Amino acid sequence: MSRARLAILSRKRSLYSTSRLVEAATAAGARPIVMDTLRCTMVVVPGASKLLYRGAEVQNLTAVLPRIGASITSYGIAVVNHLETMGVPVLNTSRAISRSRDKLRCLQLLAQAQVDVPRTVMATRGAATARLVEEVGGLPCIIKLLRGTQGVGVMIANTQAEAQTILQTFWGLGQDVCLQEFVAESKGKDVRALVVGDQVVGAMRRRARKGEFRSNIHRGGEGKPIRLERAYVETAVTAARLIGLEICGVDMLEGSDGPRVMELNSSPGFEGLEQATRADIAGAMVRHALDFAKR
Ligand SMILES: Nc1ncnc2c1ncn2[C@@H]1O[C@H](COP(=O)(O)OP(=O)(O)O)[C@@H](O)[C@H]1O
Ligand SMILES: [Mg+2]
Repeated sequence: MSRARLAILSRKRSLYSTSRLVEAATAAGARPIVMDTLRCTMVVVPGASKLLYRGAEVQNLTAVLPRIGASITSYGIAVVNHLETMGVPVLNTSRAISRSRDKLRCLQLLAQAQVDVPRTVMATRGAATARLVEEVGGLPCIIKLLRGTQGVGVMIANTQAEAQTILQTFWGLGQDVCLQEFVAESKGKDVRALVVGDQVVGAMRRRARKGEFRSNIHRGGEGKPIRLERAYVETAVTAARLIGLEICGVDMLEGSDGPRVMELNSSPGFEGLEQATRADIAGAMVRHALDFAKR
């Protein structure tokens, strides 16, 4: 049997996560190929769609790991969907990626299945702010962009006037935003669990830097490895299954009654996590991709 050919869709092979996946694929005996998503050309033909990479047809891919950055979401989702229509196993699917890119959509699906999520509302200009704030449990409350990442676009409103101003600003700019209950007891911390298949392969607690409530590493937060309690493992895996993600980062707040899911990341960076845990996250992803392709 010839070696498995594992494609990684990524803008740059020098990115930490991408280069680690290449390394792990080679270590697993597969042949990795990094394809810059924006250099993929999709050719749609009845029954014979094909993908060109830098002008040459790409064939015989065993599986594809899409690493789609937020700035190229729509083109990336199109490329992933294209591969799916060609019958190539992808982890994650275009449907799951697009679900996860919209924080509200994600929370709607989780709430439907009784997964604990912070109370969240979305409305358009014209809605009475006082009522929206009341629906999320009062002040302070969180206001966030539906498609923000790395903590950018997540704000806290301490007064009605602040909430009103923030909402008017985003609405005026035509941005989709939601209001969310501020989970105060989490105190600037959250938990990031990396789910691969139906397992958590690594987890860390992230602590925001002083004076900041957002614990994102990109906002100066610090990650420490933790052994997750069972409730957190189960919630993370359940959330991933519900959204349909084979590989993802699940962000959870530590509420007084247990885990509360904030969002799922379909192309989770894992530099901080590998450094904090010393676990071979890339290896777990690659092995799962190769197993998944066999099924
Ligand atoms: N409802 C909330 N209550 C308390 N803290 C929150 C809440 N929502 C977000 N945060 C903080 O802000 C950070 C970023 O929020 P998140 O929804 O994950 O957006 P992003 O996609 O930008 O990471 C979280 O990691 C958490 O520390
Ligand atoms: Mg997050």
